[in-house]
Amino acid sequence: MPILKIARMGHPILNQRADEVPDPAAPDVARLVDAMIETMEDADGTGLAAPQVHMPWRIVVYKVVAERAEEEDGGAGETVPTTALINPVIEPLGEETDVAFEACLSVPDMAGPVRRFARIRLTYQTLEGKTVEQEAEGFHARVLQHECDHLDGVLYPMRIEDMRQFGFVDALGKGHGQRQSDEDGEERDDAAADD
Ligand code: NI
Repeated sequence: MPILKIARMGHPILNQRADEVPDPAAPDVARLVDAMIETMEDADGTGLAAPQVHMPWRIVVYKVVAERAEEEDGGAGETVPTTALINPVIEPLGEETDVAFEACLSVPDMAGPVRRFARIRLTYQTLEGKTVEQEAEGFHARVLQHECDHLDGVLYPMRIEDMRQFGFVDALGKGHGQRQSDEDGEERDDAAADD
């Protein structure tokens, strides 16, 4: 499987709405998913959406490793093995939101704080064409919202409320120890997710 080239912010493919996959079980879809997983692993990412590899389809691959979930939300969220989502749809569950730093393979070396719903319902199709519905919270829910945004042409910097906190990871690191409070007044580390 080839490692695919990742589109960076500014490329028009990242700003357009991706199309529904008509047949999730088609061999082409499985091949693309394999290449996306390999590309995500190679780039050490948490998630990757098809438009990020110049393919305008509603396909996401992602994973949540225990270590990372622990770091981001004290392990409140679950560990998720590498999973492919075909035609994913997200629906918020409740009004509660959290702010945490995100990063993106299409916006290299940068990070910024983004508000996301704390709990969501996810519906998607598998590579076998089966429809799956599940709920997610915390870091898991954040990763899903970030990746599904890519399918609608939205990059995380478009959602940053305080642009003064958007910057290069190595420069943001200079304020190490600085913390971000969410609306519950809960303290959060300025860790960035490489989605
Ligand atoms: Ni991203």
